[in-house]
Order: sequence, then C-alpha cells, then structure tokens
Amino acid sequence: MKPVRVLFVCLGNICRSPTAEGVFRHQVAEAGLADRIETDSAGTAAYHIGKSPDPRSQEEAARRGIRIDDLRARRVSEEDFIEFDYVLAMDAQNLRDLEALYEQGGRQGRPPELFLRYAPEGLRNEVPDPYYGGPEGFRHVFDLCRDAANGLLAHIQQQELGKNA
Ligand code: 4NP
Repeated sequence: MKPVRVLFVCLGNICRSPTAEGVFRHQVAEAGLADRIETDSAGTAAYHIGKSPDPRSQEEAARRGIRIDDLRARRVSEEDFIEFDYVLAMDAQNLRDLEALYEQGGRQGRPPELFLRYAPEGLRNEVPDPYYGGPEGFRHVFDLCRDAANGLLAHIQQQELGKNA
C-alpha cells in the first residue's frame, strides 16, 4: 500500500518545519507506522538550502529527546503537490505562498492547509517565526508542533489508514 506522505513548510526550513517534521516522525515511529507514513519538510525561501536545522531548534528538540540533525533545508516546488498528500504551512504567509505555487502548478493534488488546523481547539492557528527571538520562542514552537502533530497523526490514522484512533 502506498504510504501517506506529509510535507511541512515554513519560510527558511531551518526552524519550524524541521521541528514539525522531527516531532511528527518521532510520533509516527512510536505508533509503529514508519512504513505507512513518510515525512519531509521544505521552505518557501531559498536562503538556507542545504543547511542543517538552526542549532537552537536542534537543541530544543534534543532536550525533548528528538534528533533532527540529519535534516537538510530545501525549497518547496510545484511538484511537491503531486508528491505529497498533505502540504502543511506553519503560518498564513507560508500558506499564501504555497497557494500561489499550487495555482501555478495547475492545482494538482490537494491544496495546502495550515498545520495548526490539526491542533486541539483553542490553540492559535499559526506557528510563530522564532528566528529573531530568544529560546522561549523555540520552546513554544516545539510545544505547538508536538500538539498539532498528535492531532495530525490521529486524523491520518482515521482518514487514511482506516483506524479508530
Ligand atoms: P523558519 O525560520 O521559517 O521557521 O525556518 C526562519 C529561518 C530563517 C529566516 C527567517 C525565518 N531568515 O530570515 O533567514
């Protein structure tokens, strides 16, 4: 059976989307679904192509028992909408940029959506950019990503894998 493929997208692909990918991938592995769900991340901007996640994101993830040092930044492309079942934006600007790319690619595949739509009710709907702030921003990003990743996994188990989560 074809795996479900999930792509997390932010601006630089060095802070928020690698954190989201790392925490979701960890939850997928813990649920024994690593062969059913594939993950990746990308940025709307090209500044950091080929780079490892920001050391502050790596540190915060490591503090929570999750390694993301193997990830490398890349830019999102039109083809990603064909390759991935879920293309998930961290904030509203990322979503607008992805929508433009989706249009440009002839609306193939499913449209992009905000990652935090899978977070529990009442949580904010954007993952704020932590790049120019302090460590508390990176902790907040991790918490938001963990909670939304949980909701996303439950959604995929129900909707795509036919499980009653
Ligand atoms: P990210 O954070 O989009 O979560 O990876 C940023 C990384 C780099 C920059 C901005 C945001 N930057 O301006 O270089």
